[in-house]
Amino acid sequence: KEIRIFAPGTVANVACGFDVMGFALDSPGDEMVLRTIPEKTVRITKVDGFNLPLEAAKNVAGVALLSLLNEVKEMVGFEVEIYKKIKPGSGIGSSAASSAGAVVAANKLLGEPFSKTDLARFAMEGERLASGTAHADNVAPAIFGGFTLVRSYQPLDIISIDTPDELYATVIHPQIEVKTSDAREILKRNVLLKDAIRQWGNVGGLVAGLMKSDYNLISRSLEDAIVEPIRSILIPAFQEVKLKSKEAGALGGGISGSGPSIFMLSRGEETAQRVKSIMAEIYDKVGIDYDIHLSKVN
Ligand code: HSE
Repeated sequence: KEIRIFAPGTVANVACGFDVMGFALDSPGDEMVLRTIPEKTVRITKVDGFNLPLEAAKNVAGVALLSLLNEVKEMVGFEVEIYKKIKPGSGIGSSAASSAGAVVAANKLLGEPFSKTDLARFAMEGERLASGTAHADNVAPAIFGGFTLVRSYQPLDIISIDTPDELYATVIHPQIEVKTSDAREILKRNVLLKDAIRQWGNVGGLVAGLMKSDYNLISRSLEDAIVEPIRSILIPAFQEVKLKSKEAGALGGGISGSGPSIFMLSRGEETAQRVKSIMAEIYDKVGIDYDIHLSKVN
């Protein structure tokens, strides 16, 4: 049996929700082909796009699949082809797309014995290999679709959050690489109580704003008092992109995942298009190459 799937890029953190919030993008995304084989093993036969390891134990999709196979009794395994479109180190969930895509496809081939939360648990092993931490804020939206909240890691509890009809994301990916492991290394280990208060107020506000379709509340809640002040230093023109996008009508935004990509949310496609032009203009001026993507958030 064989299956071909699309594995979407994702925006993790969404400003205030470090390691707990994320949403899926329409594009970019990876494509993967999986085939069942009558051996309990994972064979990656092709990685097209970037120079990533074929050895299953060193490949995020391979590791995620091995972790799934650990819980399968039948004598079955997988052959995998990966057509990568999302550049590693982009901040739009490149490793998560491969890990999540692989286990979703495998689950379909097996007749769906696993829940989405099980699949997230397997895919998180890919994230552990990629960044040193098994964070779920990219794999959750890649598997569940739409906007997700990781309410708890132990036990793993993932919640789908409804989003308003006219919510769009614009994501710019400057062509510099920021390794998630490095971007985590520079973070402080402790948080001040006053910053934590501000942050959980915003997390609650963002979730409430999304569910009530209250764009103003979404806008007020897109603030990160803890991670962004440290990581934004790694991203050229970050403050200017944020400021000018908001002047153009964006609700707000921040660093996509661990960067260097920047996301901005807007009400309506027209505003999101305007934000796209502004972002492009700024990076043209700075002289850094970029990709830019527009997605409906749903
Ligand atoms: N929550 C993770 C981080 C996402 O910010 O390190 C990485 O894409």
